[in-house]
Amino acid sequence: MIKQAIIPLAGLGTRLLPLSSVIPKELLPINGKPNLEFIMEECIQAGIKQFIFVVPKNRPIIKKYFFNDKFYKKIIKKKKKDKRLKEVFKRIKRYQKMIKFVYQNKPEGTGHAVLQCKKYLNGTHFLMLLADDLIVKKNCSKEMIALHNKTKGSVIATKRVKRETVSRWGILGYKKKTKNSFLINEVIEKPKLREAPSNYAIIGRYILPKKILSVLKNQSKGKGGEIHITDAIKTLIKKNEKFYGNIFKGKYIDCGTLEGFVNSGLTISKYL
Ligand code: G1P
Repeated sequence: MIKQAIIPLAGLGTRLLPLSSVIPKELLPINGKPNLEFIMEECIQAGIKQFIFVVPKNRPIIKKYFFNDKFYKKIIKKKKKDKRLKEVFKRIKRYQKMIKFVYQNKPEGTGHAVLQCKKYLNGTHFLMLLADDLIVKKNCSKEMIALHNKTKGSVIATKRVKRETVSRWGILGYKKKTKNSFLINEVIEKPKLREAPSNYAIIGRYILPKKILSVLKNQSKGKGGEIHITDAIKTLIKKNEKFYGNIFKGKYIDCGTLEGFVNSGLTISKYL
């Protein structure tokens, strides 16, 4: 059973400057809620019971957003009749019980972020989500967990992208394709058009085996001096670990770019 979700939250958010210079990109509001909450809701509906947030120590604002009881209690005392306030606090308290924090003080890559979670990981597999990638209409994490339960393998969420954009994504090579999934035989991070094995892109949701930790521990730094999860996945595939692509048919929103973020509110309001 997949019960834990890792969310790396230590990125610089360069593509969303200047907004992200004061507010972490994961807390930027979309329709009155930070995108992080949309992602947590997706996970909770999929059966996740614990979140491991990977944050830099010098960015206390994410912790403050979820752990600010004194503030809520004081304001609720003053505005006893405010029903919405109580509901908001209840929602935050519910999240609070599910969150653990670990630290990554510099953006050293998604693989490095996963390594920091070692002491909390207790199942054979866990979910990892990139908070930039919002999905609506269908629950991507739920679909992936169902595929994992069926195959017992690892799962990566994927969708077809325009060929000319392959260098923006991690791209998957595959065999044995069915309507909704395939077996992955290759992963290339941001390939040149001629190197891309397909136009199926990774969309920031992964079900990974705990054994990936031992690969990451011995992995040297990759592109940009970071420890990439994609490189560890590549190693495991070479060792015949089964990774499946879950072809996602819902709506995907790339909130990591300014254009995507600006459109996200509009897109989400169409589906809520
Ligand atoms: C990351 C992953 C990439 C994936 C993308 C989806 O890239 O490394 O494989 O396709 O998220 O958003 P980033 O957005 O950090 O450049």
